[in-house]
Amino acid sequence: MGFPKDFFWGAASAAHQVEGAYLEDGKGLGIWDALAGGRVAHNENGNTACDHYHHYKEDVALMKDLGLKHYRFSVSWPRVMPDGTGRVNEKGLDFYRALVDELGAAGIEPMVTLFHWNLPYALHQQGGWKNPAIIEWFAGYVEVVTRALSGRVRYWMTLNEPQCFAGLGYEVGEHAPFQQEPESLPAVTRNVLLAHGRAVQEIRRNAQQTPHIGMAPTGSLYMPRDESPAAVEEARQLCFSALGGSFSIAWWCDAPYLGSFPEDVCRRLGVKELFSPGELAQIHQPLDFFGFNLYHAVGLPVPGSAYDSTRYQGSPRTSMDWPVVPEALYWGAKFLTERYKLPLLITENGMGSNDWVMLDGQVHDPQRIDYLHRYLRELRRAVDAGFPVMGYTYWSIMDNFEWAKGYDQRFGLVYVDYRTQKRTCKDSYYWYRDLIASNGANLL
Ligand code: NOJ
Repeated sequence: MGFPKDFFWGAASAAHQVEGAYLEDGKGLGIWDALAGGRVAHNENGNTACDHYHHYKEDVALMKDLGLKHYRFSVSWPRVMPDGTGRVNEKGLDFYRALVDELGAAGIEPMVTLFHWNLPYALHQQGGWKNPAIIEWFAGYVEVVTRALSGRVRYWMTLNEPQCFAGLGYEVGEHAPFQQEPESLPAVTRNVLLAHGRAVQEIRRNAQQTPHIGMAPTGSLYMPRDESPAAVEEARQLCFSALGGSFSIAWWCDAPYLGSFPEDVCRRLGVKELFSPGELAQIHQPLDFFGFNLYHAVGLPVPGSAYDSTRYQGSPRTSMDWPVVPEALYWGAKFLTERYKLPLLITENGMGSNDWVMLDGQVHDPQRIDYLHRYLRELRRAVDAGFPVMGYTYWSIMDNFEWAKGYDQRFGLVYVDYRTQKRTCKDSYYWYRDLIASNGANLL
């Protein structure tokens, strides 16, 4: 069987990680601009990053050459609305209008993430995601972006990884706004999910062409210890339990996609009920696809074996220290489509490594090619098994600012020299190009 003819092969980025131009043309400060000082490896920041703001034409030309069917990128809220609400920065919108025009001319479908973490600092000062007013602040911003871009954009994602910006941002304190306030999680969860629902309404209300809407969450995916029905069922139960804390899948996905909120999450949050039935209905707006960022999975102990499969002892790891678990794509596709009953778009998958330009002027990254090959074979297995998978998005089109880890983690298909902004296509870029051209037929 293999991948369907119209399969979406893509690559992704996010505004703060690639754009730079952090104070140009009227952009306001986001929380990663304002608060990250001293909290990022080597004291790095996203001020210039890949300078994609000025290099977007060159970058889109590389995407075209690669044969991308879609490009997933995010719009920067503080670039478009410097204070978060009210004043609209037309020059900021112009950048995205020019980008989607360029993509259109290259025959690449734009997929827009509306919130990929860089909250306007002005809104953070008013409580950010802890303040229920953010539901309408976000709706106002979504209206502005939808009106400006929906002539060209059909695919929308409301939020990227609430697990991270809520969990790492307000509970663990590793990501902006760097708060360690687990007690704020009930309020943050309410505001994030209600904002998602309102955003979906705003997209549908303002879109100039029928929109396709989803989210881009992530979460702890548990692997069955073997393929027996009992083991598969056990893994499925764990996948949708509150075991992963704020990284659990059901915490953020059940309300938008199923209209319910898990009781075990309520227990964890110490509340009897987080949403009224009316609020759940407000969050549970019709959605068109199920996006998911999927890099690895959690292993389960095998009874009677001395090998520690929960920690993937001694197994291959990427430079992020993440285990290489290709089967995550198969089990993810199975569990997520069976539960949420929508076509699955892998909105991110990829690997960080310490790539460099070698003496021959090329970037040889055989590990990434092997990684891609293994993961995509598992995705094909899922497609062959009949699970509705609509596309795959490699993270990332180019090396970029990996949040608190700075620039050491290179995820790109395209290498970026941050001194010169010179782009060099890695070996994996050419491998992925062949893969797209053959629609996956070159997978062993
Ligand atoms: C998750 C995030 O969406 C993205 O911003 C990040 O760079 C990658 N995954 C890799 O960690």
